[in-house]
Amino acid sequence: MANIVASAYCVVLAVLVMCAQGHGGQEGRKYYKRIGSNVTLQCETSDSHTPVVWRFDGHVIGHKEDQLLQGTNLTLRNIETAQSGTYSCHEKHSGKLKNQITIQVGNPPVSPTILCRSNAYPETFYCTWQLSSPTYIPTEFDISVRHGEKEIETTMDPNHKNRCNIRFLEMFSTSKYTVTVTAKNALGSNSSSISFNENTIVKPDPPEIIEVNTIPDSPRKLEVKWRNPLTWPEPDSIPLKYFLRYKPVILDDWQHVEVTDVPFHTITDAYMGKEHIIQVAAKDSEVGTWSEWSKAVHATPWTQLMPTNEPEKKPNNVSEPFHSTTPSVRAIGPGNSSVRVESSATLFLSIIVILFI
Ligand SMILES: *[C@@H]1O[C@H](CO)[C@@H](O)[C@H](O)[C@H]1NC(C)=O
Ligand SMILES: *[C@@H]1O[C@H](CO)[C@@H](O)[C@H](O)[C@H]1NC(C)=O
Ligand SMILES: *[C@@H]1O[C@H](CO)[C@@H](O)[C@H](O)[C@H]1NC(C)=O
Ligand SMILES: *[C@@H]1O[C@H](CO)[C@@H](O)[C@H](O)[C@H]1NC(C)=O
Ligand SMILES: *[C@@H]1O[C@H](CO)[C@@H](O)[C@H](O)[C@H]1NC(C)=O
Repeated sequence: MANIVASAYCVVLAVLVMCAQGHGGQEGRKYYKRIGSNVTLQCETSDSHTPVVWRFDGHVIGHKEDQLLQGTNLTLRNIETAQSGTYSCHEKHSGKLKNQITIQVGNPPVSPTILCRSNAYPETFYCTWQLSSPTYIPTEFDISVRHGEKEIETTMDPNHKNRCNIRFLEMFSTSKYTVTVTAKNALGSNSSSISFNENTIVKPDPPEIIEVNTIPDSPRKLEVKWRNPLTWPEPDSIPLKYFLRYKPVILDDWQHVEVTDVPFHTITDAYMGKEHIIQVAAKDSEVGTWSEWSKAVHATPWTQLMPTNEPEKKPNNVSEPFHSTTPSVRAIGPGNSSVRVESSATLFLSIIVILFI
């Protein structure tokens, strides 16, 4: 009987010990403190005259301007993130550990910046958010989206941090959407909201140039073909229009041409014998703003000097495995994200540009 009681007691003790470890473990108590604040740590000694030493992440703390020992208390002044860590108090003579305190130094969140955009109009849009200055401590975000008075469901994006996806509630509605993001951590919370009409956030992803063909005996022509961004859900019923820009690599000024209805265009004023750089952007034919420019593609028009024994359509370096019969197509990295926008949309674009910086 005594044995059973003893072992029951052991089990209880073991559970208590495990709980205690689960709670604080080696770190002892954990506190979040604001950058720039003063913090006093108390050593749990029975009498405040026992000499103690404090250690920070194992290293003995010496006397410094901003670290003050008063009896068994340690005061840290004007703390910084580098002072995040574990402080332990030991009896000076025995070195025995009295207690441990973990401090995480950080900031409460500033108000989040929010950006919403639809690259899949009229099905869905997404919103992203970020803090313009770091908190240094774990921070959570809460998102609420309303359409008029109605709360709508959001889904966290599995592939992007700080991003959620939302289905448009009704098509072509004139009620505003309002998105509120609240950032919260152990030191405080902050929130911000934006409101918009659905048609102002429409911005397709860039199209993709899939072919640039030279035309035999036409030294000033280049035939460019592209395809709609795969994210655009219904190109047949919600058509896109396009903007093509091109220039010889060695010149600064771009030529522009707007193309409606079809995803191809023949440039007829290319510079003879020069390597050109070509990009295309897309926009919903009615609402929203222009996409970013597509990846740049390089091509040189047909020239007389081409060796005649070489096939006209020599497969050149194409970055993607497109099945293309085209010469001189070479994709390069994404260029500047400057985009031609209608003036009414310029403000929105600038906001996007600022947010992405
Ligand atoms: C921290 O302590 C110093 C010196 O005692 C004092 O001047 C300062 O105002 C204190 N800072 C805060 C945020 O309390
Ligand atoms: C240690 O700090 C506690 C709480 O801040 C304070 O009450 C106590 O007087 C301090 N002791 C000394 C020796 O400064
Ligand atoms: C929220 O953030 C702004 C800066 O974005 C700041 O000025 C303000 O004090 C913060 N509010 C709170 C309650 O922390
Ligand atoms: C074209 O591809 C070949 C082999 O795939 C490579 O050696 C060459 O550097 C590439 N040229 C350019 C201009 O990218
Ligand atoms: C591209 O961006 C750089 C700096 O980001 C700028 O100096 C350059 O003029 C830009 N080029 C074009 C073609 O916009």
